[in-house]
Amino acid sequence: MNRIAVRSVVGGLLGGRNCNRYISTAVPVRPLDGAEFLNHRNGDVLGGFYWRRMMSTVPQSAETASLGEKEQKESQSSVSDDAKKGSDSVVVSNYWGIQRPKITREDGSEWPWNCFMPWETYKPDLSIDLSKHHVPKTFLDRVAYRTVKLLRIPTDVFFQRRYGCRAMMLETVAAVPGMVGGMLLHLRSLRKFQQSGGWIKALLEEAENERMHLMTMVELVKPAWYERLLVLAVQGVFFNAFFVLYVLSPKLAHRVVGYLEEEAIHSYTEYLKDIDSGKIENVRAPAIAIDYWRLPKDSTLKDVITVIRADEAHHRDVNHFASDIHFQGKELREAPAPVGYH
Ligand SMILES: [Fe+2]
Ligand SMILES: [Fe+2]
Repeated sequence: MNRIAVRSVVGGLLGGRNCNRYISTAVPVRPLDGAEFLNHRNGDVLGGFYWRRMMSTVPQSAETASLGEKEQKESQSSVSDDAKKGSDSVVVSNYWGIQRPKITREDGSEWPWNCFMPWETYKPDLSIDLSKHHVPKTFLDRVAYRTVKLLRIPTDVFFQRRYGCRAMMLETVAAVPGMVGGMLLHLRSLRKFQQSGGWIKALLEEAENERMHLMTMVELVKPAWYERLLVLAVQGVFFNAFFVLYVLSPKLAHRVVGYLEEEAIHSYTEYLKDIDSGKIENVRAPAIAIDYWRLPKDSTLKDVITVIRADEAHHRDVNHFASDIHFQGKELREAPAPVGYH
């Protein structure tokens, strides 16, 4: 198993693509059945191919060449058909009695996604104030603010104005704090026999929302092999560092995330400027984004970035709010958790 895992990671890294390519459509991944698994293993396909498909829900055929606009349209319109074919051809045992009921969209068409359900989708609140900023007041605030500003320097140097790559890479980091915070509050709830006041759910929702940002971005840009390597290294460091930070000082941890979200709003604003100026092509929105944010079918990249930026503003508010609760000497569970705050 270890050999397979190593081959999978190495194969995935080598299977990386240039970050600047646009890829449009998505279909749910069909799990390998037993015979296919063995074939892939013997044929040395497991490492690169399957891992890449797990990273991106783009069909392999779509990855082999850059799609023109016509191809993008055709691929997007066929997403439901592909998904249906994929689910129809899955051979699974029903010994366990697990079956997903047929799920449809509001218009009656079949729901093509296994990774999220219609009741997890939402219409983003675009009226949120993007300019809000927490002015550092205390020593810990200043530590958080300076830390985030320092972290921005290598990010600016590495990515410069390649905002597609930048956003995709940063989302791999942004999805970590909510999961760490939610996990630690979960464990605390178990240890103390106490309710969390809804904060476990609120933070895990944030992590899931950030992960959906990543799943959307990866439909638009493909990470190069060295960027995948960077994600491995950064995740290893950041997860552990944030875990320790949250254990030692949740108020500092939430403040850091609040400032990270302020930076994310800035980055997505610059991204939108480059789309408006024509430096970045305003391609069609990926199918996954249209369904997740309940966007009109003719939505574009600009619409997607706009709703992601609104999400980041909500995360900013949640984390600064959480930090403020701690600064008042209270526990999170004493204040209403912003569950479903998008
Ligand atoms: Fe995000
Ligand atoms: Fe965020």
